[in-house]
Amino acid sequence: MAMIAKNCVDSKVTVVDLNQDRIDSWNSDDLPIYEPGLLEVVKAARGRNLFFSTEIDQTIQDSDIIFISVNTPTKDYGSGKGRAADLRFVESCARNIAKVGGGNKIVVEKSTVPVRTAQMVKEILGESNNGFSYQVLSNPEFLAEGTAIADLENPDRVLIGGDQSKEGLEAIEKVVSLYNQWIDRENIITTNLWSSELSKLTANAFLAQRISSINAISALCEATGADVDEVANAIGTDSRIGPKFLKSSVGFGGSCFQKDILNLSYLCQHFGLPEVAEYWDQVVRMNDYQKDRFVQRIMDAMFNTVSGKKIAILGFAFKKDTNDARESPAIAVCSRLLDERAHLAIYDPQVPKDTILSSLRLDANDKRVSFHDCATDAAKGTHAIALLTEWDEFKKLNLKEIYAEMEKPAHFFDGRNLIDPIEVQNAGFRLHRIGKG
Ligand code: UGA
Repeated sequence: MAMIAKNCVDSKVTVVDLNQDRIDSWNSDDLPIYEPGLLEVVKAARGRNLFFSTEIDQTIQDSDIIFISVNTPTKDYGSGKGRAADLRFVESCARNIAKVGGGNKIVVEKSTVPVRTAQMVKEILGESNNGFSYQVLSNPEFLAEGTAIADLENPDRVLIGGDQSKEGLEAIEKVVSLYNQWIDRENIITTNLWSSELSKLTANAFLAQRISSINAISALCEATGADVDEVANAIGTDSRIGPKFLKSSVGFGGSCFQKDILNLSYLCQHFGLPEVAEYWDQVVRMNDYQKDRFVQRIMDAMFNTVSGKKIAILGFAFKKDTNDARESPAIAVCSRLLDERAHLAIYDPQVPKDTILSSLRLDANDKRVSFHDCATDAAKGTHAIALLTEWDEFKKLNLKEIYAEMEKPAHFFDGRNLIDPIEVQNAGFRLHRIGKG
């Protein structure tokens, strides 16, 4: 929304939330999320045509276009538990819009939703009996965390779906005209509602599938002596395959990939397509296998036990340049190491200690984990380092100094193939990488 406000100076954009603290943060210089470049974009428009407020009803009443941008977590109760998307926040937004009224409106689903969610929104709005008419559109977001500003400024495409009726097409064109103020028209794709909703889940499923595919090959590389980065490079130069999203890792994380695939698979089951559901489930299974395999390698290298041993965890975020740890592979890796009775010395440049503790379901005085202000400090006295997030600063570690302060033999498990292997080995470490012998 900040990017829309920045580029559409004639439109007033108001972001509303029930949570006063969150809105206060958005109105300060201490934004509630860490995202490089976001503060500058917010500051460029805040107070001019970008506002943050808790006055939800008034804002609904005054707006011509309403973007529903609430979260749609995986259901943790009842039918579809652990797979289906929980749509209660979307539904309550639709009900609130229906209740408040205030004029004919375009309601845009921005949240990631299962295909045909717009039907529910349409029915709620259609039966509001307030005399106003509504057009429901789908405009999924494709930005990635850490690169959000560049992705928004210069997206591969913007997707807008809506009814193919005269009113639907007019509504689509209104939203197109917003984006068209900074994005070329040929990069704005318009479709019917269901194609747009389904494209979002499909895009994430395809991206995650590529990572699981290369991670599956990484296991074979370790068994055969092939090098996964060489294989990725060799196949990625085929223009039909392309080079992106072929970086083998300890596993993908983040709030979207797993959730969206499970949701896609649930939808397939719902529509009577169990074989299709199973096909996509395998992407998540392979990701779980990759995280498990990483811990197993740690165990194998450390004489089959980590009990009582101290391991430094470098990076807890699900990727670099974010403070987000949702579904981070670090959670599964650290939890399993704790099950094996290891002690963990954790350092992440951005993820707060409380987030790490709650992700691992630990309380603050659990003696099995300690938190550190830098990698060097975390590694002191440990038997091994497990690098789990590809933060740039980890490329500049003083490996010789770190090695000197560790127990021997000192292991380095590089879960991102980030560090120069020659430097790690020259410092004295036993190095273990993903998909390399
Ligand atoms: C992902 C999609 O990339 C966005 O297009 C989408 O809009 C977003 O989900 C969403 O649905 O909100 P994001 O989860 O922020 O974005 O981050 P990604 O860059 O996709 O990375 C996801 C995970 O895959 C990370 O853990 C990353 O380390 C891992 N990854 C990525 C790899 O292991 N290898 C790769 O080659 C690329």
